[in-house]
This record gives sequence, C-alpha cells and structure tokens, in this order.
Amino acid sequence: MRNFEFYNPTKIIFGAKTVAKLADLVPANARVLLLFGGASAKTTGTLDEVKAALGSREVQEFAGIEPNPSFETMMRAVELVRREKLDFLLAVGGGSVIDGTKFVAAAAGYDGDPWEIMQKHGRNVKSALPFGSVLTLPATGSEMNSGGVIMRKSTHEKFSFMNRLVFPQFSILDPTKTYTLPKTQIANGIADAFVHTIEQYLTFPAQAMPQDRFAEGLLQTLIEIAPKALSMEPDYDTRANMMWVATLALNGLIGAGVPQDWATHMIGHEITALYGIDHARTLAIVLPSLLNVQREQKRAKLLQYADRVWHITEGSEEERIDQVILQTRQFFESLGIKTRLSGYELGVAPAEAVEAIIGLLDAHGMTALGEAQDVTLDVSRVILTAAI
Ligand code: NZQ
Ligand code: ZN
Repeated sequence: MRNFEFYNPTKIIFGAKTVAKLADLVPANARVLLLFGGASAKTTGTLDEVKAALGSREVQEFAGIEPNPSFETMMRAVELVRREKLDFLLAVGGGSVIDGTKFVAAAAGYDGDPWEIMQKHGRNVKSALPFGSVLTLPATGSEMNSGGVIMRKSTHEKFSFMNRLVFPQFSILDPTKTYTLPKTQIANGIADAFVHTIEQYLTFPAQAMPQDRFAEGLLQTLIEIAPKALSMEPDYDTRANMMWVATLALNGLIGAGVPQDWATHMIGHEITALYGIDHARTLAIVLPSLLNVQREQKRAKLLQYADRVWHITEGSEEERIDQVILQTRQFFESLGIKTRLSGYELGVAPAEAVEAIIGLLDAHGMTALGEAQDVTLDVSRVILTAAI
C-alpha cells in the first residue's frame, strides 16, 4: 500500500425526511444563495421544502444550471454572489448543480479571471465560500468530494478541478428524492458510480486489501441492485443503497493508497464536450474498449475482478479476461446504455469523431493518461477506434 493522507470533512445526513435539518445546518445569519438546475427541484417540491427549512434567512435563487454546467452560466452566479454579498451557497440537485456550486464558491473571491481556476485544475484556489448540498441524483460523488467539472461551451473545454477548500460542509442524502428520476438518470448514476470504482481498483496490485475488498463490494452491490433500481416502482432500500454506494465510490476512501487510472474519464469528458453525450454514457463507450487494449498492464487485476466480482473462474487467463470485459459491456447494456460510439447521434461519421476527440485530447495535454501514463494519443486512438 502506498503512503497516503485521507481527509474528508463533509458531514453526511442520510435518510428520509432529512431536508428539514437544514434549519440547523445553515448558519442562522447566513445570506444564502440557492442553486439548482432546470426544472426538477421546483416540480418535485424539493425547493419549497428547502426554503421552508431555511425559515426567515435571507435567501436568493439561481436557477438554470444545465447538465455539464457551463462556465458561462456559473459566472452569472458568481456575479450575483459578489453583487449581493451572499455568504453561503446551497446546491439542490445532482452532480452538475453541486459542481457548479463548487466553482462559484471558489470563484467568488478569486482575484483574476476565474477560468484560470479550471486551467490550473484548482491548484490556485486560495479561499472558498462555505456551501452545502441537497442531493437529488446519486451518481458523481460530488456531494462528498472536493472535485468539480465545468465546461466552457465556447471552446469545447471540459476541465476538472480539485481543492480541499471545496468539500461541501454537509450533504443531505434523502433516498426518496431519487423517486422522481427518469430511468435514464438512474442508469447513468449506476454506470458512473461503477466506473468511479473501476478507475480506482482496476489498475495493478498494490497490496491494498481493504481498498480492494471495499471496491469489490461496491461493484457487487451495484450489479445486485441495478435491476430493482430500474424497475417501475421505486423501492426505498434499493435507492438508499444506490445513493450510499455512489457516494462511497468517490469520497476518497477506496482511492487512498492505491494507483488510479482515470483515462476513461478524461477521454469521456472530451466526448461530452464535443457531442453532448451524458457523462456516464461516454464512460460506457470507452471503458470496455480500454480494458481490452490495456489487458496486459491490467492482467492481474482483470483476473481478480473476474473472479471476485463476476465469479468467472473457468478457462484460460485470456478467456477469463475476454469474458469479464464482455460481462462489463453487457452490464452497461442491461442498464439501457449503448456501449458503442455508433449508437449515438454524433452528427459526423464515427471515424471522424475519433479524430476530433484525439485532437481535443492533444490540445488539452491528455497525452499520457492512466495509472502508468502509457495511454498516449496513439493508444487513445486505438481505444476509440475499437469503440466505434
Ligand atoms: O436540470 P433539472 O431539471 O434539475 O434535471 C436534472 C438534469 O437534467 C435531472 N434531475 C436531477 N435530480 C432529479 C432530476 N430529475 C428528476 N428528479 C430528480 N430528483 O437529472 C439531469 C442530470 O443531472 P446532472 O446533475 O447533470 O447529472 P449527474 O449527477 O450525473 O452529474 C453529471 C455532471 O457531474 C460531473 C460530470 O462530468 C457532469 O458534468 N462529474 C462530477 C464529478 C465530481 N464532482 O466528482 C465526478 C464525475 O466523474 C463527473 O465527471
Ligand atoms: Zn464520472
């Protein structure tokens, strides 16, 4: 196991009917900005519940944070915060709203062009406003981590940033808030949490036994609950498990002391930036192909994953690896997520799309990805071409 520091200050309030606890969590004299997405926070009644819990505090609203939050939109929130001297942010939504809120928290007091925060991936953040979240979509883990992803629409740049100053102070996780999610978003959430776990687990052995066993437990839980989570009637226990797994998959716990990959995510972000495909779906396109191309480097962990997660124990090593990659692809497909580039509306021929994605990776310096930095542009091209 590698040396590590583990720090996670986010307080989690988990369970049904917990939104009312905002009354105690947000400082009584706070000047609050509520941030949310398009329509769901309002139509589901969550926004009203949040406002009721905040009582007589000074509250302003910022609506319209889009999926894959844009720098352009979030800068309007930054201006509002500065103008109105607001001092506490409250995100009500999924990963996009929480990430957007993190950006506002960091940018509000930033001296200079806030896009620099994204260009330096958060290293230059010196202060941030305090904020909390009410999670309505379990997927990204943003509710309990210090990362965010923001997209500059005008230049097709989707960059991530990270800084310990942007951990949420608290996050409210009420599984009943997921009952209004369409199936497509449930599927996205399961796929995203699955790939977060894989990115921190499926690398090379690091003699990190608890991290491996935790990761395998998260993957197995997702596989077990997926059919029920996607069935018509929402069920509390299924949604509760889905919510907590998604949080645990990216709150630092399983990633402590182990090598990490993240090539699938980096390639996926470029696909979203170019073609607007949902984040989780880009991962389902890239991952099976990446595992196949990187099978030598990942051999030991692929075999461990096959054995412990999918119980594949028969056949030669090559056969077991082939089978587990196929199982992984079929798992995404069973969620209703297509795993080939050609399954999506790209507006261009898939081979042309591959070159455009490679061009963006190159422009963004994504030329040595993965746990061994051996996913060069040529390797990314092989991965994407095989994913057509
Ligand atoms: O805009 P509204 O109307 O609110 O609708 C949203 C949105 O259209 C809807 N929704 C959310 N909660 C709902 C609901 N609809 C009905 N009922 C509810 N309870 O769901 C749609 C998608 O929401 P979004 O927040 O975009 O999804 P997700 O949570 O998957 O977040 C994706 C973003 O997170 C980033 C991705 O890149 C992407 O930009 N990521 C953030 C990470 C992090 N901070 O650690 C890590 C991830 O790997 C990821 O990159
Ligand atoms: Zn993700």
